[in-house]
Amino acid sequence: MCGIVGYIGKRQAKDLLIEGLHRLEYRGYDSAGVALVGGNKLKRVRALGKVGELEKKTEGMTLEATLGIAHTRWATHGKPSEKNAHPHADCAGAISIVHNGIIENYTELKDELTKKGHRFSSETDTEVVAHLIEEHTKKSKDIEEAFARALKDLRGTYGIAMVAVAEPERLYVARMGSPLLIGVGKDEYFVASDVSAILAHTKKVVYLEDGERAVITRDGYVVRSGQAVQKKTVSDIEWSEKEAKRGGYPHFMLKEIFDQPESFADALRGRLLPDEGSARLGGLRAVAKRLEGIRRIVIVSCGTSYHAGLVGEYMLEEYAGIPVEVEYASEFRYRKPLLDKYTAVLALSQSGETADTLAAIREAKNKGALALGIVNVVGSTIARETDAGVYNHAGPEVSVASTKAFTSQLAVLSLLTLYLGRKRGMSLVTGQRIARELLKLPRLMERIFEQSGTIKKLAKKYANRKNYLYLGRKYNFPIAFEGALKVKEIAYVSAQGYPTGEMKHGPIALIDREALALFIMPVDSVYEKSVSGLEEIKARGGTVLAITTEGNTALEKKADAVIYIPKTLEMLTPILSVIPLQLFAYHMSVALGYEVDRPRNLAKSVTVE
Ligand code: F6R
Repeated sequence: MCGIVGYIGKRQAKDLLIEGLHRLEYRGYDSAGVALVGGNKLKRVRALGKVGELEKKTEGMTLEATLGIAHTRWATHGKPSEKNAHPHADCAGAISIVHNGIIENYTELKDELTKKGHRFSSETDTEVVAHLIEEHTKKSKDIEEAFARALKDLRGTYGIAMVAVAEPERLYVARMGSPLLIGVGKDEYFVASDVSAILAHTKKVVYLEDGERAVITRDGYVVRSGQAVQKKTVSDIEWSEKEAKRGGYPHFMLKEIFDQPESFADALRGRLLPDEGSARLGGLRAVAKRLEGIRRIVIVSCGTSYHAGLVGEYMLEEYAGIPVEVEYASEFRYRKPLLDKYTAVLALSQSGETADTLAAIREAKNKGALALGIVNVVGSTIARETDAGVYNHAGPEVSVASTKAFTSQLAVLSLLTLYLGRKRGMSLVTGQRIARELLKLPRLMERIFEQSGTIKKLAKKYANRKNYLYLGRKYNFPIAFEGALKVKEIAYVSAQGYPTGEMKHGPIALIDREALALFIMPVDSVYEKSVSGLEEIKARGGTVLAITTEGNTALEKKADAVIYIPKTLEMLTPILSVIPLQLFAYHMSVALGYEVDRPRNLAKSVTVE
């Protein structure tokens, strides 16, 4: 995920900024850059790859500068490259900005600015902001006013820091939906998107709120919202530097689980059209005509991404009316799949580098199918080799066990369902209902986090069972697979995921006093069937941990323990029901003393067969 650092004070900014970038490296990034203001000059240096590369490029710089901004970029618009790296500049090279977030209306703004003569040198949404500010300075000459006016034109999310060659005494910042804070030192100030970047220098910070902007000088700062000056409190940070590296969480996996409300909202941002009950998927524009004639979708993927595909199958068939098959990419590539130009083969991959999924896509293209991708890592091989696709925008996933990429894949699959469904007979009302419910999910996810303490206790209590059987029906049967995969990966226990109805065809033989059955059974169209399954387990002496819908307290009499998820549409329940299972696996791994983020024998990106 992108990171911002800024400095204004009496010390040389360059080394402080690069040190700050190093501290943000844990977030994952693909390029880095710095802009320094000093001696009537504004100098920008950017590099593809590690902060170390940027450091090498800046080694010989003689510019005396005590003001500057810096950035680590994780590509969203435009592939990772030096020209897409931040900071970005206006035509005159007079201002420089760094930005986290997504500018939703950047295409419209770019078109308008191009007509007015602006020339762009990157593919990013961010560069538009620099040109927009330049355009406003033509009218007002006052940079602060131009900055404020430009912000009003933006739609989307941003944390922005800006410097201007004409104002070596000022550092500008603004926030809307993307975190930004001011670090308060002695005669010096820092800016950061994440406190870990500046913790070595100060533990006193001022958090900006959405809609606030600030002008920072060496003597202080003024924060405004609209015209009104905001009185801000200075908070003391108590984290150690080590803790701060993971945003205060003890492991990346836990951080990424808690990132989900944000990563889910990011996947929907600028795409969901609640009033039209549909979705705008820019990445599919180029193949929109061909998609209209598609008669069948084959989803290819591996592991957790495969489980997301299974949920997608149910969504797409029920609401878009298209036949869908989901295949393990490793199988698909070696059998003789029947494909034609009316088939779309859709690869789901967080990394975009999984060897089997890539091979499946190549095979699909060879056979004349339309190759699509839902990929998290921008510019990855699968993203490049597919005919079209949609990015997740989930930010980097560092922990080997996938969590936020999964819910983000479900967000994009829901969008795809709306997009295709509305073209194939889904009613406006149904589309609107799904779209409005999708918007509520980030808040509903937060409600599940309130039960973290209970889930932790349950994970500890049940950490030493001999067998774990995860059971779910319909939309939640893939969640049984996913829950079982998570504990296998990081807690090294024997766990199996099954559709509840399959239980009596074999797995029920595993049930004894040492088995734990985890039932994913929200109150939905198959709830009663799940209750029968639960009774069968209880009748054989098994222990049952159930995940059900809030308010269904009656289940407490039947199950040994119950975790609640908020009510939502049946098709969206997997997006919530997976979260307690991610937390359960995480806490079990911690309770058993394992290395959560780096489980044995596994790699984050499986680039070999
Ligand atoms: C499980 C996990 C793996 C991946 C699988 C596919 O937690 O991370 O099962 O889901 O290796 O990886 P991607 O999505 O990168 O293709």
